[in-house]
Amino acid sequence: MRNDIEKVLKTKEEIQDMVKLLGEQISKDYIGKIPVLICILKGGIVFLSDLMKNITIHVELDFMSLSSYGDSTKSSGVVRIKKDIDVDISNRDVIIVEDIVDSGLTLKYLDEYFMQHNPASVKICTLLDKPKAHKIDIKIDYTGFEVGNEFVVGYGLDYAQKYRNLPYIGILKKEIYS
Ligand code: IMP
Ligand code: MG
Repeated sequence: MRNDIEKVLKTKEEIQDMVKLLGEQISKDYIGKIPVLICILKGGIVFLSDLMKNITIHVELDFMSLSSYGDSTKSSGVVRIKKDIDVDISNRDVIIVEDIVDSGLTLKYLDEYFMQHNPASVKICTLLDKPKAHKIDIKIDYTGFEVGNEFVVGYGLDYAQKYRNLPYIGILKKEIYS
């Protein structure tokens, strides 16, 4: 696996430090509340797992699965729900936990979808953001790291379902996906 990586972008240690900060921030911001962390599968799972351990208030969990990229590296912009949430989010504080925001189309769709269920609030927490790739104006509440437009893998992020189990985030060699 390591041979397919052009460059390590964020080490295991850098990620752990950042996830700790995000957990502390969320713990402060939601004092007296019990937010529902909604993890966007599959990419968000590694981040969620570490993030929740760094949150010191009560939280609930739920999961949502969407179709987005298929096995390509370009966003289709078409979002389809494969698995919906089970929790009733009306009057609840929702935090969407994502691996990466690219075009922002997935989150725009999710934000509008959750809003139909009358939540108390909806905020977005993403480990990575590609600000230069946004196709729409989107407000992200908690961001771990901003990255360039390179295709990255590891720590939950995949290419064709592989590399999710890398403990760091790396740029995939172009020859792997072109
Ligand atoms: P968006 O709708 O274009 O913002 O796409 C967001 C989703 O695309 C993320 O949740 C990822 O699953 C996937 N994605 C975007 N960029 C990358 C990348 O560099 N590596 C792996 N997956 C990515
Ligand atoms: Mg995703």
